[in-house]
Amino acid sequence: VMQKGEPGTDCTFGDSANVLRTNIEQIYGGFPSLDGCPLAEGDIADIADGTQFIGLQRYYNEYGSPYKLCFGPKSFLVISDPVQAKHILRDANTMYDKGLLAEILEPIMGKGLIPADPETWSVRRRQIVPAFHKAWLNHMVGLFGYCNVPLIASLDKIAEGDSKVEMEEKFCSVALDIIGKSVFNYEFDSVTKESPVVKAVYRALVEAEHRSMTPAPYWDLPFANQLVPRLRAFNEDLDLLNDVLDDLINRAKSSRQVEDIEELEKRDYANVQDPSLLRFLVDMRGADIDNKQLRDDLMTMLIAGHETTAAVLTWSLFELLRNPECMKKAQEEIDRVIGDRTPTLEDVQEMKYIRLIVAETLRLYPQPPLLIRRCREENKVPKGAGREATVIRGMDMFLALYNIHRDEKFWPEPTKFDPERFTRKYVNPDVPEWEGFDPAKWEGRLYPNELASDFAYLPFGGGARKCIGDEFATLEATVTLAMVLRRYDFEFDKSKSTSVDIMDEPFNLEHPVGMRSGATIHTRKGLHLLIKKREL
Ligand code: HEM
Repeated sequence: VMQKGEPGTDCTFGDSANVLRTNIEQIYGGFPSLDGCPLAEGDIADIADGTQFIGLQRYYNEYGSPYKLCFGPKSFLVISDPVQAKHILRDANTMYDKGLLAEILEPIMGKGLIPADPETWSVRRRQIVPAFHKAWLNHMVGLFGYCNVPLIASLDKIAEGDSKVEMEEKFCSVALDIIGKSVFNYEFDSVTKESPVVKAVYRALVEAEHRSMTPAPYWDLPFANQLVPRLRAFNEDLDLLNDVLDDLINRAKSSRQVEDIEELEKRDYANVQDPSLLRFLVDMRGADIDNKQLRDDLMTMLIAGHETTAAVLTWSLFELLRNPECMKKAQEEIDRVIGDRTPTLEDVQEMKYIRLIVAETLRLYPQPPLLIRRCREENKVPKGAGREATVIRGMDMFLALYNIHRDEKFWPEPTKFDPERFTRKYVNPDVPEWEGFDPAKWEGRLYPNELASDFAYLPFGGGARKCIGDEFATLEATVTLAMVLRRYDFEFDKSKSTSVDIMDEPFNLEHPVGMRSGATIHTRKGLHLLIKKREL
């Protein structure tokens, strides 16, 4: 009898019945791995308390990459290595799909780009990517400034009042307003008011996050949607959102002006009434998309582009408050480059330090901290800095971005918030299969990327399924951060602290900030700060 935790055995695959049995044992249940991967043994509480990515990091330190994790009746292969991630995301990407993630998200995003099966994905990706063209992104920089005006007004009011502000919520609101306006030209106005639609978005997000952490799909059980109150409420929220989206789609279609992609990309956005992605997708010649598909795409972008960016802003501010010398440098740069102006694209190009802050925050707090895949075709993942392993068809996998981003093999002093690390070359001769980090490889671009780090930096994934909103989101975060830091100084609100020192690591669960994850990493109790206007 093999023991848990024991690396693979010499067992050879026999006749087909045996192969089937072996495969079932490999995918389901806590059987020892036949592929050389140790089986992580631990307390389920390690991964079930909303910080599963921290539990996975602890196991990684013990077992290396990949290891196998049993979670109820299911097992997952956990990958924490850039060379292996490059294989899965780029080199062998056709051998993997979104698996469990697609199953979980299907009721919300349908066949939107994130969960889409490879066939639907290849058609939609080709049509959606051009919508994020250069002229549109330039125009969006102005829109980010416009959407920040109500945020600034609301922060001014607080600074003149009791000075207490919960910034995570504020960043969520501004990110929602931005995504609504840019994706479907809808004014959520969530910074200034609470509407039923905004509430429905938030509740749908909470449910999506809850599902992504729930191994048993209870929502598929017969009558569950009618009987379970949270599911009933969720379905009502979805109906409301779908009605809003359907209405926007119908309106866009009724004023459709068909053009070739090349023409659309040359639109003079200064004189366009509706610069939204929806408008572009509807007007594109040849793209006669049905309403359901468009709705799935819009819902996907709404969810994908909202909390992710809000989280980057929250954790950037958190890290700047813990690192006053970085804050000083950031504010000096903002004062020098934009002063009280709303930033332009040229300003963003000029504010290199703010861009590096956004990038470094995404390294320490990748959103989401784990990517999910399922193997479609047996293949071997390379050794990298870990061990070579055979991945069999049907195997569910986690790519632990959090582990890769905080591994000292790839990042010197990995937990240090050091925005300028992206300007320094780093190679590790102990990992010969990994090329290292080379700043020359992101020269000419605004933000460091996976190629400069040979897949050790994957905030937007990599390969064919890489995020399409990467530049949009990083520009948005840079503009918002610059506008807020120009005007205010912040400090932690100690009255919100518990017995534990506020400067503790954020993953200390008693910490007043703390970490908790759903699809993204949130604080546990909000980012409670005291705000005051800067004296300029
Ligand atoms: C995919 C991160 C903002 C739309 C992804 C993936 C990551 C990611 C890691 C890859 C998922 C995987 O491989 O399983 C982020 C982060 C963001 C952000 C950290 C903000 C800081 C946005 C925005 C949009 C967006 C603003 C749209 C407006 C998408 C879509 C995909 C995706 C559609 C699926 C792409 C495909 O499968 O072809 N994102 N994202 N994201 N993201 Fe983002």
